[in-house]
Amino acid sequence: MTKPTSLQQKDVKYIWHPFTQMKTADYPIVITKGKDALLFDEKGNAYLDVVSSWWVNLHGHANEYIAKAVSDQLYTLEHVIFAGFTNPKAIEISERLLNHLPFLSKAFFSDNGSTAVEVGIKMALQYWHNQNNKKTRIIALQGAYHGDTFGAMSVTARTPFNQSFEKLLFDVDYLPFPTEENFESILIQFKQMLLNQDVAAFIVEPLVQGASGMRMYSAEYLDKLFALAHQYDALCIADEVMTGFGRTGKMFAADYLDEKPDIICLSKGITGGTMAMGMTLCTQQIYDAFLSDDVYKTFFHGHSYTANPLTCAAACASLDLLEDEQTQNNILRINQQHAAFYRNYLNHPAVKEMRVLGTILALEVKTLKETSYFNELNKTITEFFLQKNILIRPLGNVIYLIPPYCITDEQLKTVYSAIAEFLDLQNKNSKTI
Ligand SMILES: Cc1ncc(COP(=O)(O)O)c(C=O)c1O
Repeated sequence: MTKPTSLQQKDVKYIWHPFTQMKTADYPIVITKGKDALLFDEKGNAYLDVVSSWWVNLHGHANEYIAKAVSDQLYTLEHVIFAGFTNPKAIEISERLLNHLPFLSKAFFSDNGSTAVEVGIKMALQYWHNQNNKKTRIIALQGAYHGDTFGAMSVTARTPFNQSFEKLLFDVDYLPFPTEENFESILIQFKQMLLNQDVAAFIVEPLVQGASGMRMYSAEYLDKLFALAHQYDALCIADEVMTGFGRTGKMFAADYLDEKPDIICLSKGITGGTMAMGMTLCTQQIYDAFLSDDVYKTFFHGHSYTANPLTCAAACASLDLLEDEQTQNNILRINQQHAAFYRNYLNHPAVKEMRVLGTILALEVKTLKETSYFNELNKTITEFFLQKNILIRPLGNVIYLIPPYCITDEQLKTVYSAIAEFLDLQNKNSKTI
């Protein structure tokens, strides 16, 4: 093992990292610089970031256009309270996002993906409460991940991640993850759940469940589930924290649907990966249920940094880039490259399953154990790719790519070859077991 640098030593002395067992973790790599799809450590080594630094980065690191927009804003207005006051960049980003999602009418700001979900859940519950309706049940999908605050944890599947808090989480009913085999029975089960008329909301990660292994399901199924929920007067919440901003090939996963959600939660890519920001968008109908002479019908929720002008400026600049034809072409190009890799490697003996949607490619590596976040292959995969200076953070035995849109064909080729090499090695090893 190489000797830790002084920054690594200080990090370990002072910092507690997320999702990390600090007792067994290696020293973290100190990243000091970034450019486009590359990250550079303190020794100058370059790493190809094909997970967009936890799915947030859209246009590459240290993007100059976003940096200038934030810098200009920083010299104009860094922050202002958002109750009783507003700011031009908050208005701009709201108007532009709502133009992309014309079935929604109002935007509410928060700080991250979990809070965007918290807001969505609270909006849905209070929508019914304000109308003296007793609906409080929430239905989610098995395998769901919606964040780490208590409400978001409650609508997340019960897993070892949240077992310490299980007794304190509110009850949620889970519908099985939709597949070709089970969909007809799921529809019957869902209808059964809705018949009581006590379901306030149905929440999903539309088309792709991220944290549970980039599991994908069709828009046709989601259309039918949303339509059924609406038929029984339940609100539909699309948690697009991961799927938003082009990841699925369209601007939003909701763009694939005929039956639109009533609430959409956004974060991650919203600022192009520059700053933390969450937004929850809702229909006019939901908003109207909070309008009253009765002060208690107010939506009493807010964060100190709500609609921070800097984050809003970053979001507007990132949206400029995302709407640009070149970025849209890049999204298409990445999808075509993924599709070619999919065709070539789908039948590789070490591949259990592979799936592609938009710029996301996910590949389950065959192992003796089940596919799971805790699959031991996780460490092997991480180390194999790090040695090749590729930043991949697998979900157990699921290798996935969700790169920034500026990644070049050459860089993609490097990653695909490394995956191919890993699969060959895995196949060879399985034969010798
Ligand atoms: C679908 C989804 N919702 C919510 C979250 C939580 O977002 P954050 O980590 O910003 O709190 C995540 C994070 O991975 C996510 O994938």
